Formats: sequence, structure tokens, C-alpha cells
Amino acid sequence: SMARLRAERDRVHAAATAGGDARGQRAQGKLTARERLDLLLDDGSFLEVQPLRRSVVGNLKTPGPGPHTDGVVAGSGTVDGRRVFVYAQDFTILGGSLGAAHAAKIHRVMDLALATGSPIIGLNDSGGARIQEGVPALDGYGGIFRRQVAASGIVPQISVVLGPCAGGAAYSPALADFTFMVRDTARMYLTGPDVVRAVTGERVGHEELGGADVHGTQSGVATFVHDDEESCLDDVRYLLSLLPANNLERPPAAAPTGAGAQQRPRLAEIVPPEPNRPYDMRAVLAELVDDEDYLEVHQGWAANIVCALGRIDGEVVGVVGNQPMVLAGVLDAAAAQKAARFVRFCDSFGIPLLTLVDVPGFLPGTEQEHGGVIRHGAKLLYAYCEATVPRVQVIVRKAYGGAYIVMDSRSIGADLSLAWPTNEIAVMGADAAVDVLFGKELAAAPDPRAAREARLADYTTELLHPYYAPERGLVDDVIDPVWTRAAVAGALAMLRDKRGHAPQRKHGNVPL
Ligand code: COA
Repeated sequence: SMARLRAERDRVHAAATAGGDARGQRAQGKLTARERLDLLLDDGSFLEVQPLRRSVVGNLKTPGPGPHTDGVVAGSGTVDGRRVFVYAQDFTILGGSLGAAHAAKIHRVMDLALATGSPIIGLNDSGGARIQEGVPALDGYGGIFRRQVAASGIVPQISVVLGPCAGGAAYSPALADFTFMVRDTARMYLTGPDVVRAVTGERVGHEELGGADVHGTQSGVATFVHDDEESCLDDVRYLLSLLPANNLERPPAAAPTGAGAQQRPRLAEIVPPEPNRPYDMRAVLAELVDDEDYLEVHQGWAANIVCALGRIDGEVVGVVGNQPMVLAGVLDAAAAQKAARFVRFCDSFGIPLLTLVDVPGFLPGTEQEHGGVIRHGAKLLYAYCEATVPRVQVIVRKAYGGAYIVMDSRSIGADLSLAWPTNEIAVMGADAAVDVLFGKELAAAPDPRAAREARLADYTTELLHPYYAPERGLVDDVIDPVWTRAAVAGALAMLRDKRGHAPQRKHGNVPL
């Protein structure tokens, strides 16, 4: 009878979605896959696909069919009313390991995300490729990676690491646009501590090898690091609120805030006019964005450059700024990689770029040069040159040499370049310039010190005054700092309908 069939369905369904024994998760302070989805998604919005799926054949470890869900909860829901696709690996079932059915479910939600133009979010907590299923498990990972690359620049991809994510599995967060990790429970490495010890003799713990802080400060693999899963998933929601659902949609604007008419008096006080005195560029950033509210990416990695998403007059904007507080704001290999990836993300998804410049140059030394700072610096240069979104540059203070060019100068395609009266834009500083130009003359002078002082004064008046670049059209205007927010809002409004034309080619060859 129908009543019996319905009762039977309910029983099967309830058993399938109950998950495994969660005591292990709890002991480690981890939530279950479904608890995580409850935190991430709007209440009652989750639509699960294939909860009944299982591995239907036996294997070395499990003689008969495997457990329902096959260790992953997959489907779709909404975040603040906007559609997303999501999968959450369930460590309580087969250690969240990835078998063929598990992988097929992930492939399915990824395909639906791409078909509907919706963000895809993966919650990772898994022992990796399911060993007893053999090579098809690896094939399943390959199918995830290929889909991630196919979806890159089309729908936002967010990877949240909430447990182990080892071996090939780590490439999924690596391919994502943004990767979140939680301290003490998340770990990511290609080879774990045991293998490291066996192969190299090095003794290292999980957290020290691939914990959240390591990836958030050293490797740059983690974009965001959190103390607990609640705040982590809350920030995933915050991030999504700043992103378009896909590359054809405009970034989600909020109501205009009247920024175009607002003075920000604090801007005249934050930046010291003395070129070598540090300050926190984030204080400038806070004055520019609506409600002083922004989301900083890679806060702990390459902190000499700041990358953040925020809104100005309601419109989403990606901000890149040198950070004079860290390493005097120089560019180095890590800063260039961090900013390059951010610029490319913003460009992919139509997010205008605001670049705040206060850069003395590149970090000198063998470590940087031998580490390929030329190659890495080229990534940032390439990213800017290629970007077709509205681009506004604000030169706050110093902008020297190659670093000036790289930080979205007019020459590489900024649509509008504004500078404060504190701007110092030049090929190099006065001391170095005078040495190169007049070294011999000064050595031969009867009073080398006085001669040098005179030459320094000449260089400064000739080449290092705040109106030198504006007079030559390399800066569009010198603005009063207190009106920067208004000027940027106006520039973004002016550029709102800018269209980018990507040339016909298979793809460029970005220096990786
Ligand atoms: N394949 C199959 N089963 C796996 C698995 C995998 N890759 N990873 C974990 N499991 C299973 C375990 O066998 C265990 O099953 P059981 O409950 O029947 O004993 C269950 O998941 C829980 O794993 P356990 O080892 O007890 O959990 P833990 O928290 O102590 O350790 C790991 C977690 C991930 C560190 C550990 O399971 C591990 O090292 N797994 C293998 C990682 C790996 O090398 N994967 C291949 C990479 S491509």
C-alpha cells in the first residue's frame, strides 16, 4: 500500500541521512557535515541531491554495498537568498574518503553550479582517495580538478578546509578562488608527517607542517584563517555577499551611501608627509569604503601588500594597497603573487580595482632575486595589464621606479590616476639619482658635500615635486586627500559601463 511505501521511504531516507558515529568529530571539536551546512545556508533552504547514493559493489574492506551518501552531503541552498551549490564531506562515513560514488556526487553539483551560474562551495574533511577503491578514486579527483578549471573565472569557487585534506585532495583548495582553514583541525599537505619522516628524516607535526597558520602566513595557500568553524562559515557568507554569482552578473551592489559628496577629514591625518614614516594603509582603506567595512584577503601572508573587498557608494570594489607598516611597503615575490591573484580574480568577475600606492620599490637582495622576484613581479604586471575592469589608481605618497609602473600606473592601463599632494613619483630617490648622475663631478668638486647638497636640491625641485607627473598627464589630477572617497566614487561611476575587449586567442601565457 501507499502508506507502507511512504513509511518505508521515510525509514530509508532517515537512515541514509543520519550520518555515522559523530563522537570522533566531537572529540576533535569538529562539527558534522550537516551541522556545517546548517550554519552556511539559509534556514530550510538546503536541497540535497543523491542522499541514497552508495557504492553498490563490494571491495577489499567492505564486502557488500557501502553506506548511503558515500561520505559526502551534496546539493544546493541559498545564502542571503542567493543560490549556491555545495558539498560537505562527512568524516563520520568512511573517513569522508573519496570513492567513485562520492566523486560523482561532487561532479554533479559542480556541473549544476556551472549550468546555473552559481558559486560552488566545498567543505573538505576527508582522509583522501578511498584506498580500497583503487585508481577510480584518483579518477574522481581528476574529475573535480578538471571541472574547477573549467569553471574558473565563470563561477566563484570557495574551498573550506575543516579537517584533513591531504595528498591530491589538496589541489581542490589550491584551485579554488578562496580557501578557508580553521586552526587546530584543518590540515593540508601533499605528504603527511609520517611520509616526511620516512623520506627525509625531518620530524614535524601536523599543525606545523600544514595547519591553518602555516598556510595563512607562510605558504599563502589559505586565504582566510579562523579559530572556529562558526566564525569561518559566517565569513564564507560575508565573502559571498561581495561576489557576483557568475562572470556575467554585476557584483551585488548595495544601496548608494552618498560617498560622492562626503569629506573624510581623517584622511588628512593618517598619512605622515615624511616619506619614511610608516602608517597603516588599512586606516586609509577604512576611510574610503562604506561603513569602514571591508574583507581583507590573505591578511597574514605578504602583509606588505593589502588586498581587500569592500564597497564604495554601494558598489563592490577590490582594493590593492601597499602597506608602509610592513617592510616599508616594498614589493617582493610573495606580495606580487598575492596581489596578482587578487587582481585576476577581480577582473574575472567584473569587480573594479582601486590601487592605493605608497611603494619605495622592490625588496633588494639575493634571497629575492634568486627566488625569482622578477618572475613573480611579472605576474602582477601581467595581471594589471590584462585587466579590463574599471581601474582607479590613487598615489598616496611614494611611487618609485619599476614598482610605480607595476602598481597600476596609467602606462599599463589605469583608467584614472589620482594623486595626493604628498605624491613623490620618480625613477629613483634623490640620493641614488644624484650618485648615478653626478658621482664623478661630485668627487672632483672642491667641496663635495656642498656640491652634493646643491645637486640634491636641483633634483628635488626639477623632478620630485608633486606636480611633475600631473603636468605630463601621467597623473590625471592632484586631489585633496579628504575628498578621496568622493573622487573614487565619482571615478567608479564614470567608468561603470566600461567594456573590456579581450583579444581573440586561446589564452595568454601569464608568467606562472
Ligand atoms: N581510504 C579509506 N578509508 C579511509 C581513508 C582513506 N583514504 N582515510 C580514512 N579512512 C577511514 C579509516 O580507515 C577509518 O575507518 P574505520 O573507522 O573503519 O577504522 C576512518 O576512515 C576514520 O579514519 P581514522 O584514521 O580512524 O581517523 P583519524 O582522525 O585518526 O585520522 C587521517 C585521519 C586522515 C589522518 C587518516 O585516516 C589517514 O592518514 N588516512 C589516509 C590518508 C591518505 O594517505 N590518503 C590518501 C591520499 S590521496
